[in-house]
Formats: sequence, structure tokens, C-alpha cells
Amino acid sequence: MRDTTRNPAVAGPPALTRRLRDILSLEDLEPAAERHLPHCIFAYVSGGVETNASRHDNRAAFAEYDFHPRVLIDVSMRTTAKSLFDESYSAPFGIAPMGGAGLAAYRADLALASAAAAENVPFILSGSSLVRMEDVAKANPRAWFQAYLPVERDAIGALVDRVTAAGYRHLVVTADVPLGGNRENLVRAGYTSPLRPTPKLAFDALTHPRWLFGNALRTLRHHGMPHYENSAAERGVAVFSNDAIRTLLRDSLSWHDLEWIRERWQGKLIVKGILSPSDADIARQIGCDGVIVSNHGGRQLDGAAAPLRVLPRIAETAQRMAVMLDGGIRRGTDVIKALALGADFVFVGRPFLYAAAIGQEPGVRRAVDLLRSEIHRNLAFLGSRDLTELDGRVMRIAR
Ligand code: FNR
Repeated sequence: MRDTTRNPAVAGPPALTRRLRDILSLEDLEPAAERHLPHCIFAYVSGGVETNASRHDNRAAFAEYDFHPRVLIDVSMRTTAKSLFDESYSAPFGIAPMGGAGLAAYRADLALASAAAAENVPFILSGSSLVRMEDVAKANPRAWFQAYLPVERDAIGALVDRVTAAGYRHLVVTADVPLGGNRENLVRAGYTSPLRPTPKLAFDALTHPRWLFGNALRTLRHHGMPHYENSAAERGVAVFSNDAIRTLLRDSLSWHDLEWIRERWQGKLIVKGILSPSDADIARQIGCDGVIVSNHGGRQLDGAAAPLRVLPRIAETAQRMAVMLDGGIRRGTDVIKALALGADFVFVGRPFLYAAAIGQEPGVRRAVDLLRSEIHRNLAFLGSRDLTELDGRVMRIAR
């Protein structure tokens, strides 16, 4: 008898701990991480800005579409495999860049990178990461690098040279952070930058011993105080230093800097944080290879449009550029909706960091497997053999 549940894009799943077996969907990860992490670290990962309107709407936008499946189509050979920039991946999603990930999970950048390599999905290393990009490239030679550009051209050039020398072939420039977002929720949760030791923080850490011993003290013991390792050509400041705030200001950058990078960078160039078709158009004219439609997970401008809502118009203007999207994706059906609306690929942020926090690399692999399995199952229900068959005909806007 044929095994119609097998996804040809993947090998078998890894063995699971009990904690991970209890995780049945990406949505289960957030409450598990909330229990595991100190309140202030959980607030850092989960939060948006101001009223959290964009973070909320990123999710709500997906619910506005419903499916109109076709039946009695032979879908036994369906696959979740998807190509992007001439590379073949096991799924149409990857891991979004997340700065300061090591605050939530021990050496999180490595856990995420290794899990992505093992599961054959893309991983984007954040420019605000806490493990050297050269070490991450060893763990995952196909990792992408995301830069927060320094403002001086010399410094940009030196960073790009370092990224090239480390072997990265995909450079993502995040464009929606001219300065830091207004994260009131962090202040309320006791997370200030730089972090100052207070009785509240000490209590927060002591009441989460798994995180305290499994991450914070373990990191300090083996690697010392975490630093921003990849914000420039040379090592950056310590996470908790006063200077960490100053490095956030890059409001003088412009498309001219992107043009300058395009001339210098031989690999794929991707701009992240695009919400306007006009900006996508400029990116295309400059010679960028792709854009990531994103409002930074609702962490920058409160009220910025949900990426899903602006996706179709950006996909129309993109022409040969790859169009990717992130923000609010938690289910296989969300991935399918984004692809049907014109995305070539999507990225997921918070759930994978929660997975690293509670389960390190196996946790992230579990999360990848869950999301991919949902897509594989849903393709059967939709009567689609292949992700390239998805388009607006499988759904409509629910009223
Ligand atoms: C981010 N994001 C982000 N983006 C980026 O370009 N560089 C970065 O360093 C970070 N750092 C970061 C840290 C944390 C803790 C989070 C949660 C997010 C934004 C991220 O790449 C992505 O756009 C969103 O997380 C996508 O939304 P979801 O999937 O988290 O809803």
C-alpha cells in the first residue's frame, strides 16, 4: 500500500523529550516559553510596540481569508519542497533574524542555525546576534546574514567584506529600523537597555532556575558577558552596556547606501522591512534580488500595515525579484495563504526562538517539523500537489 502521508521533502523526525512531545503546534510554544523565561526576557521576545496594534493585526489578517478546496485530485505525491534563489529547501519557510536571541536560549544563534541546516530550511543570522558570524557559518554553511547597517560607508564596506570572507552568500539589509521602536512593554517588565540589576530582576531570574542555570550562568561561565558580535567588522559592545543604545541610531541611511552595497556585494541582496510597492520598485531598480515584506513583527511602527495586506500589490510590482513575507505566521494554513497571495517564501520569528528556549536545537527542529507537516496535510485538503500550484483561486476574502 502507498504511504500517502509521507512528505518526500524530509527524512524522519528526531526523537523527542517529553517536554517537546507536549508541543503540538507553534501556538503551544508561547505559553511554554512564558513559563520557562524570566518575565522581562519573555517580554523582550513576545512584545511589540506601544499598543501592539501591528503585532495583533499581523495575526488577524490571516483570518480574513478562507479556503475553497478542490477534491478528488490525486495528491499522494505532494511535497512541501520549495526552491528559492536556486537553492532547494524542504519547506517554503525559514527562520527570521532575531537579535539578542541568546538572552532567551543558550547560544541560540547556533541552535537555530544547526536546526535549520538539519531540517533544510533557510536561517537568517541577525546582525544583533551574540555568536560570531564565522562560528555560525561553520554550523550552517548555507545561513544568510542580516545586517543593521552602520552609518559610515567605510564601516559598511568593512562589514560587507567580513560577511563575504565568512562565506555568506545572502545579505539581508533591514531597512525599517532608522532607530529603535518604542518598547514601553519592556520598561514595564523591568527590561531596560542597558540592563541594571534591581531586586525585581534578581527575583525574576531566581524564579526561573532552568533559564538561570541552563542559559544565563552557563553562558557567563563558558563565554563571558555576551557581546554584539556581528554589528560591524569588529566585535561590538556588550549587550548590557550603555553604548548599546547609541548603536541603534541609523536615521541618515538612504537608498544610495543600498546602491553602494549593490555595487560591492556579489551575492544575493535582499531588503527586509518593505511595506510599500514604491519601495519594492526602488529595490528592484537598484538590482536587489528580493524583498521581505515585514513590519518587524510589529516591533517598530505601531499601526504599520500587516504584511499580508500589502503583499499582493508588492508581488505585482516585484517582477523578477523574490517576494518574501514575515509577521504572524503560526500555522501551515498561514504559510499557504501567503503563498497564494504572491509570496515566494515566508519567514517565522518568535515561535522558533521560543522553541530554542525550551528545547534548544531539537526544540527548533520539532517546530520546523510541525509547521511543515501542517503544510503537507493542508496541501492534500486543498487538492494541491505542489506549492507552485497555489494561487488566489484556492481562497477568497471571508466576509
Ligand atoms: C526580531 N526581528 C528582527 N529583525 C531583524 O531584521 N533583525 C533583528 O535583529 C531582529 N531582532 C528581533 C528580535 C526578536 C526577539 C524578535 C521577536 C524579532 C524581527 C523578525 O526578524 C521578524 O520580522 C518578526 O519576528 C516576524 O514576526 P513573527 O514571526 O515573530 O510574528
